[in-house]
Amino acid sequence: MKIILLLLILAPLCVSVTGRLKCPGVPYNGAVATCYHGCGTKLIYDLCIKTMQQGHIDLSPSHKEETTAYAILVLSAAVESTRTTSHTLTYQLQKNASISVQERAFYGACLNDYVAALNSLDHTLVVMLPNCFFQGINDDYLSALASLNSCRDRFIGPVMYTSPLYPLVLADRNKALLAYSLGKLLL
Ligand SMILES: *[C@@H]1O[C@H](CO)[C@@H](O)[C@H](O)[C@H]1NC(C)=O
Repeated sequence: MKIILLLLILAPLCVSVTGRLKCPGVPYNGAVATCYHGCGTKLIYDLCIKTMQQGHIDLSPSHKEETTAYAILVLSAAVESTRTTSHTLTYQLQKNASISVQERAFYGACLNDYVAALNSLDHTLVVMLPNCFFQGINDDYLSALASLNSCRDRFIGPVMYTSPLYPLVLADRNKALLAYSLGKLLL
């Protein structure tokens, strides 16, 4: 009975995700203005615009969406690419017999970082944002970023810098930073 009641309460919110979210107090803005206000560096701003375009968002100033919708879009992009990299790490660990002992230790440690990062990002994407629950999301974003930074910082020395995984980790880290930047606009 409790579950049915909960579903009834959540149902209107869930439906609104695919159509229009209506989180109390969250502003409506154009995509470019949102990227501009949210992003602190040109690198992240450019990534923001690119992600909006890939998400087929109309960039004209007259088209306005609730900031939550933009936050969800950039966060799903971060989750998707982080998940893909974690699969790549798993593949290398399980299927690639030619990785060195050093690489094995390194990929294993990074996989732990990735599992932690995905837990935080996924929770924010699936549970928090679609239901307009914003309390604590900042900590979730920051803990995901810390995990991805921890993996990135394992790349010490020329052997690791030349790893094909290095650019993937950097890209995931930037996407998570973008998600955090737009998530801050909800607080
Ligand atoms: C397996 O690991 C080696 C050493 O890191 C790498 O050069 C090679 O590209 C990897 N193979 C695959 C299929 O990813």
